[in-house]
Amino acid sequence: MSDFEDKLQNAIANPQNQGEMSDADSVGTVGNPECGDMVRMWLKFEEKDGKKVIDKASFQSFGCQTAIAVASMATEMLKGKTVEEAQALSSTDLSAPLGPLPPMKIHCGEMVEGALRDALNADKGTEPAPATGSSNTLLGDMNRPKIKSGKLKVVLEK
Ligand code: FES
Repeated sequence: MSDFEDKLQNAIANPQNQGEMSDADSVGTVGNPECGDMVRMWLKFEEKDGKKVIDKASFQSFGCQTAIAVASMATEMLKGKTVEEAQALSSTDLSAPLGPLPPMKIHCGEMVEGALRDALNADKGTEPAPATGSSNTLLGDMNRPKIKSGKLKVVLEK
């Protein structure tokens, strides 16, 4: 077993902070259509010495062991970090306890980083990217009544 696999097995044997957080202040989600996995991260903040810090973080990931291991480590790492400190963390930082990820597994760490950034942005009130089928997409616009069938004309509203 490689060093990476060894650390991975240890990490997923007892993943930390797994599951939905009912009292979370924000939540972020990232999915990867290629492997079909998804990572969702919940954050709860508190005031400490006049600064907003992460009190706790939890996650859900479906299927991928590397994403589960990185998310578990990341949610531990995030405790006590300010929002700015959390923003500065890269996927390499978040997966550091596992050592360098094999090339095929790099996106697993990036998904955890993406879920973290999405949760941090959600807390700032930034709208997440619209989901396919919403009225902000081409598909959503095509389904609007003002577009008459027969003569397809897509009108993008500003
Ligand atoms: Fe896609 Fe790990 S294989 S998240």
